[in-house]
Amino acid sequence: MAQSISENALNQRPKAIVVGASSGIGEALSHKLAAEGYRVALLARRLDKLEAVATAINQAQGADVAFAVQHDVLEFDTVPQVLQDVTAKLGGLDLFIYNTGTQTPNDPERYDPTGDIGMINVNVNGAIAWLSPVAARFQKAGGGHIVGIGSVAGDRGRRPMPGYGTSKAALHAYLEALRNRVRRYGVTVTTIKPGQIETEMLKANADKTVGAIPVEQGADLIYAAIKKKRQVAYIPFKWQIVSLVIQHIPSFIFHRLPI
Ligand SMILES: NC(=O)c1ccc[n+]([C@@H]2O[C@H](COP(=O)([O-])OP(=O)(O)OC[C@H]3O[C@@H](n4cnc5c(N)ncnc54)[C@H](OP(=O)(O)O)[C@@H]3O)[C@@H](O)[C@H]2O)c1
Repeated sequence: MAQSISENALNQRPKAIVVGASSGIGEALSHKLAAEGYRVALLARRLDKLEAVATAINQAQGADVAFAVQHDVLEFDTVPQVLQDVTAKLGGLDLFIYNTGTQTPNDPERYDPTGDIGMINVNVNGAIAWLSPVAARFQKAGGGHIVGIGSVAGDRGRRPMPGYGTSKAALHAYLEALRNRVRRYGVTVTTIKPGQIETEMLKANADKTVGAIPVEQGADLIYAAIKKKRQVAYIPFKWQIVSLVIQHIPSFIFHRLPI
């Protein structure tokens, strides 16, 4: 059982919300944040998974530093109230991470408007629903840090993943606009672009994996980028080189490549 620590000790910790904390990168990043001294609110739809993550974090830290909150990002209208409730329970907010994302299996032969629109709703519209009130809160407070988990898949329109790539490209553009808007108020916005990280999502969707890294390593690298207040960070760094090459392949060659 985790020890209960004083309200005072909990209040002294920096406070973070991770949306999409029930598995994969969000789960590992929540563990990392708690280990680095944060008090963490864990949000997603699967409450049983979230509670298991919170229990594991609290046991590892020997203190009740994490708690679970069930929320579906598609319930756009409920976000301001959930944000208010969660920040009240946390005792403030210093860091907000929008990690939530879905990806339907890649199939270059099939058109899937339902799946593609679903990804736009979760990966983009859910992000906008959350990031707007968070940015307004940080702007008013004169500080805070927003992190969005994008993808190298958003750097170019790729044949196997029109919907997913579009959702991540839109998220990157939204985060850049937000950064340009809130920077003058002392608010940091970091765009994380992972390559391949070993999670259930990767297993379910990647045709093949290329240099995928363990999720704990991914979380460590993402945390390092947050700590350095990076504007954009590829995880791991080698994907910045890969992406640069991909972005510069001329169209008349690129459309022949099955990537
Ligand atoms: N793994 C990779 O190689 C890779 C590469 C590039 C980018 N990414 C990005 O990294 C992020 C995390 O992915 P992952 O690989 O860790 O996959 P994951 O384990 O499937 O995590 C996805 C998270 O999003 C949450 N989520 C999905 N739909 C939601 C909804 N409607 N409302 C609230 N939460 C929702 C899930 O929780 P519930 O199902 O419990 O709601 C889960 O916590 C995603 O944005 C993904 O696009 C991953």
